[in-house]
Amino acid sequence: LPGAIFGNRANSAGVDLADPLVREPLLAELAGLEARKWEAAPTFPGAQAGEIAPITSPQDLSHEVGTRRDATAAEVADAIARAEAIQPGWNALGGAKRALLLEAAADAFEAHTAKFISLCQREAGKTLVDGVLEVREAVDFLRFYAGEARRLFAAPIPLPGPTGEENRLSLAGRGVFATISPWNFPLAIFIGPAAAALAAGNTVVAKPAEQTPLIAALAVKLCHEAGIPPEVLQLLPGAGEVGQLITSDPRIAGVAFTGSTATAQAINRSLAAREGPIATLVAETGGQNAMIVDSSALPEQVTRDVVASAFQSAGQRCSALRVLYLQDDVADDMLRMIKGAFEALGIGDPARLATDVGPVIDEDARQALERHVARRKKEGMPVWRRALPKGAGAGCFVAPTIIEIGSIADLKRESFGPVLHVARFRADELERVIADINATGYGLTLGLHSRIAETRRTVERLARVGNLYVNRNQIGAVVESQPFGGEGMSGTGPKAGGPHYVLRFATERVVCIDT
Ligand code: SER
Repeated sequence: LPGAIFGNRANSAGVDLADPLVREPLLAELAGLEARKWEAAPTFPGAQAGEIAPITSPQDLSHEVGTRRDATAAEVADAIARAEAIQPGWNALGGAKRALLLEAAADAFEAHTAKFISLCQREAGKTLVDGVLEVREAVDFLRFYAGEARRLFAAPIPLPGPTGEENRLSLAGRGVFATISPWNFPLAIFIGPAAAALAAGNTVVAKPAEQTPLIAALAVKLCHEAGIPPEVLQLLPGAGEVGQLITSDPRIAGVAFTGSTATAQAINRSLAAREGPIATLVAETGGQNAMIVDSSALPEQVTRDVVASAFQSAGQRCSALRVLYLQDDVADDMLRMIKGAFEALGIGDPARLATDVGPVIDEDARQALERHVARRKKEGMPVWRRALPKGAGAGCFVAPTIIEIGSIADLKRESFGPVLHVARFRADELERVIADINATGYGLTLGLHSRIAETRRTVERLARVGNLYVNRNQIGAVVESQPFGGEGMSGTGPKAGGPHYVLRFATERVVCIDT
């Protein structure tokens, strides 16, 4: 029953961009924030300052959004010591009081929506629509995990005592959790894992992606203003070296990481190699996401959902569609319609309302995607590309691309950007297609467009994926309604925004009293 587990919490209403009375003041506020310079630095600066790096905008590399001051080794060590010292107090506060503080942070985030959207655009190259969605998801995570703090940490669970003793089970925080978060959801996936760790009674040292520390710094500042003590949630900006310093520290009880599979494996090795507690790793990693479309699907719906799944957020979602499987007898017609919608995509400055596809995150990402497309061309695969608008050369733009391939097995790794691959299959090959998708070793999202109940049952039975979406797009999981996360090389679980997530951040304690 809706609300049966979680009560009556509702997700954030967000910002209605269709309403001019809402949109116009927001656009005016964003214009006023265009020249603002931001800073990210460790929460508690040490005696010696670390390196300072400029943060430039992916749509115009000459535009500086602010600066990142990296945490030094001493600052990392001090931050962990502070977090460790205050953790028992934070844990003893109890779930209900922690929930109130997380909810106060959610209210503060909503009140500063325009600043967050401005940073989403300028620091991460996100479109206005994506910026609005990002703030909503962040607020939803804070409120959902606040509810989980109340639900799970309210009172010990009484257990049977058949021989007369009193037995009870309770949950507590594990200690100091490190969060290492990605640039593609620089606010939502920065605050989501941190909020879950805090809800469970852990203290947090947070290292945001090196490309997007400014939005994380604003989030941490608002959390502190909302009443979360600064020692309880500390920011440690920096590149990979800062992450390595954190994960090799024996005082870290757990790590929540979102990013590449290779980095998750490196963190796993680093945690295993150190002394100290056996740490928990919650990892959400890459994917090689497919969509299967059979001849019973509705072409207009397929077109809309393929374009959104592959090209929204410039394809920079871990859920995004990479390989579209079209049944051969409808493939030409479907492809014609998809290319029509593809030709209509607005490409360019993410601040413009008409923009559907903005830049990719940085020059390294742009070059990797260009190399991928060039290689496929060289191999003789048919390639369609959009032209880039004038002025795109100032930033990290990749022309949206469609490439015809034979099978998902032709691709060795994920292309994290606006590149859609298309393959064809015969009706009698459905099981082979699913086996090929499973054989990639990833298991994040899968889309299916089919009106045939038997096909839907077959896919549900055979596909090894975390999130299966039928007759809709395969991006934009909603907190609580579609808990999100993959299996195999795509992540450890549990699912973000789901009923088991916060449990992974907690430890269980049993008290047995012989009366
Ligand atoms: N949670 C995002 C989505 O569902 C992906 O990271 O699109």
